[in-house]
This record gives sequence, structure tokens and C-alpha cells, in this order.
Amino acid sequence: MSDEKISNNKAIDAALHLNGNPQNVKQFYDDWAKHYNLDTSSSEYSGPAIGAKLLSEYLPAKDSRLLDAGCGTGLVGIELHNLGYRHVDGFDLSDAMAEKAVASGAYRQVIGGIDMMRAAENYADANYAAILSIGVFTLGHVAPEALIVLLQLASPGGLLLVSTRTHYYDQTNFQLVIDELIESGQLELLKVIRDAPYNNDGDGHYWVMRKAG
Ligand SMILES: C[S@@+](CC[C@H](N)C(=O)[O-])C[C@H]1O[C@@H](n2cnc3c(N)ncnc32)[C@H](O)[C@@H]1O
Repeated sequence: MSDEKISNNKAIDAALHLNGNPQNVKQFYDDWAKHYNLDTSSSEYSGPAIGAKLLSEYLPAKDSRLLDAGCGTGLVGIELHNLGYRHVDGFDLSDAMAEKAVASGAYRQVIGGIDMMRAAENYADANYAAILSIGVFTLGHVAPEALIVLLQLASPGGLLLVSTRTHYYDQTNFQLVIDELIESGQLELLKVIRDAPYNNDGDGHYWVMRKAG
């Protein structure tokens, strides 16, 4: 990736210049965990609130079993908790981020040190009504193929709700991965909100998908 400046916040800009290597990404977030909430709040990060609200429109039952994939410090879980959801699990690559999520009290269970690309190994019997992943399909973090892994963790007919930073969508094969999942009958696209608020550096897209029943 180029060294072009993407964000005006130093840490957020550095996050967008990660190289997708799980060890580097983990180290970066372990170091950032302490200041993450303050930095993202200063950047008017709205992904968690938008993602949680969107989920509640498609899955209003508050006892639904949800998985927050790449939960970070728990911002998505807190939004879901405020909406009344009480059965939210989460995982993250970074142990330090996951510890913050545990401390938020919004989750039933949080596991740190899990690479999304290998998450199916840790959730062998997963049968979640919905998987959310907000702020993770972003440059230098996970490849679009991680969608295929997340799909395995959802129940038949379960939902997948993810955000993509606009520049991630523009620079990766995300659309191709979705198209292939739809064409092969594994996924249905229920809604995409394009160019919606994300943070004060740019927009994002929000995708609501349903796993084949
Ligand atoms: C920008 S933060 C978003 C966190 C949270 N979802 C939120 O909206 O605040 C990105 C998160 O993705 C996690 N992450 C990055 N690559 C990952 C991977 N391969 N597997 C699991 N988590 C990953 C990072 O550790 C970090 O916590």
C-alpha cells in the first residue's frame, strides 16, 4: 500500500497502513487498546451505533445469539447492550482489546487471540443468529475472504452484518467475494447502505446479508 495519508488522526492513519499480517495487526492493537476509545470517539466513529441499529431492524428479538467478530474494545457490544441485547459473544485478534471488551460488561463471553481467518476452529459448533463485524473489513486488516469464514459461524438463515470502509471496498475484491457467494446460493444480500457516515475522515458501506437457510 502507498504511504498516502488516509486519516488525520495519527493512530487511525497508522491502522489503515497495516499490512494484514496478523502478528503485526495484533501488536498494533495491543499497543493502541488503551487509547482506542478516546481516539475513535474524537474521530466521530459512528460504525458501532449504525451497525447495531441496523441489526435491530432485521433481528429485533433481544434474546438472539449474536457474535461480534473483531469486537475490539467492545463498542459494538455496548451499542447492542443499550438496545437490549443480552446474548452477545465476541472475539478479537488482540488480547488487550478483548480485555477492554470484557470490562465493558456488554458481552456474555469474549475470546482474545483469535484470527478471524481461523475462527471456525474456535467456534466449531457455532450457530449464531447474527454475526456482526464492524470496523474490521478495512485496509490492512482482513481480506474479503474472511466473509466466507464468518458465514460458517452463522445458523442457516442467520444474518451477517459488516461495514466496509469506502477505500477498502474500492481497493479490494470485496464485491467479487459477495457476488460469488450469492451466485453459489450461499448468501442473499438484504441491504447495502453506501457512502454512509463512518468517521470524520470518510464514509463507509454497511452490508446486511442472510446465509442460505
Ligand atoms: C478498527 S477496530 C474495530 C473494533 C470494533 N469492532 C469497533 O467497531 O470498535 C479493528 C479490530 O479488528 C481486529 N482485527 C484485525 N484483524 C483481525 C483478525 N484477523 N482477526 C480478528 N480480529 C482482527 C483488531 O484487533 C481490532 O480490534
